[in-house]
Amino acid sequence: MRVVDTEGQSVKFPGSHILSITQFERHDIESVFAVADQMAPYARREKMTQVLDGAILGNMFFEPSTRTRISFGCAFNLLGGKVRETTGFESSALAKGESLYDTARVLSAYSDVIAMRHPQAGSVAEFASASRVPVLNGGDGANEHPTQALLDLYTIRRELEGRGRSIDGLRIAMIGDLRYGRTVHSLSKLLSLYKKVKVVLISPKELSMPESIVEGLREAGHDVVVSDELETNIRDVDIVYSTRIQEERFSSQDEADVYRGRFRINQSIYTQFCQPNTVIMHPLPRDSRAQANELDADLDNNPNLAIFRQADNGVLVRMALFALVLDVADKIHDSAKPVPWYTGGR
Ligand code: NCD
Repeated sequence: MRVVDTEGQSVKFPGSHILSITQFERHDIESVFAVADQMAPYARREKMTQVLDGAILGNMFFEPSTRTRISFGCAFNLLGGKVRETTGFESSALAKGESLYDTARVLSAYSDVIAMRHPQAGSVAEFASASRVPVLNGGDGANEHPTQALLDLYTIRRELEGRGRSIDGLRIAMIGDLRYGRTVHSLSKLLSLYKKVKVVLISPKELSMPESIVEGLREAGHDVVVSDELETNIRDVDIVYSTRIQEERFSSQDEADVYRGRFRINQSIYTQFCQPNTVIMHPLPRDSRAQANELDADLDNNPNLAIFRQADNGVLVRMALFALVLDVADKIHDSAKPVPWYTGGR
């Protein structure tokens, strides 16, 4: 893995920051997925481990988040560690003009690892350059969301297993706000590591995928189709990956409203235009307001709707990343013991 540490050196997993998906090579992805597979009994509460007993995660989210923030925290708790949360600018000294450098210098002494989300592209890397502990990027503006790309690919791999398809040869349609959507940026970069992928990029022209990312896909030898038409382009794909209009990156709500609801998928569109086993993904939150409704609730009983399995997988992948970065991946099972309370049917 090409990871830049605080001195700008390339390092392997232990002690590494995870800032961009471009740090990963294909064999690194396999390592993450192999550890994630082993996390399932802990996430399902069949067993528990205390391998990170005493460790502290600084979970710093300066932008709204539900899944990413809570699944980082939950993953850390499931490994036996404790979580300290900072949310919102207003409640931190950043609101008093403190630099990311100073904040990082101080807060990294209070934690063993930091997960961070921030509205500016490049901010998490800037913070990491002053941090004395590993920093995991939970989303920096419209730039990147590397842990989401890993959990998306992990989901794709698992969903395709039973369909006789694999990531090499994958056909995927990415739909919606491809300009500002950091999840599709990171996922596209990650797909460049694989072979013979067909990527159909469906967005309004104004919200198209950044040219550098399209070029990266083409340089990887992939077949890239760019379109602003939904129905005819979701016919021959394994995955439809829908995204939300990233309204917080627009200069006004009115501007975002122009694009809201432009690409809706409901059961009738799915039945008419998709293959019967096409997998439906979305990083969530899906915008369920009537004027947007990008993935209709009438899909909720469709077995190919993978959005909640995708969110569940986020815990496994983030557990794996903590275990690798803090170098305990081979010690997790040492402290394993049964869970004594009622754990329900997970
Ligand atoms: C995404 C994000 O914040 O980039 N969600 C997520 O992390 N699961 C996508 C979004 O907010 O639309």
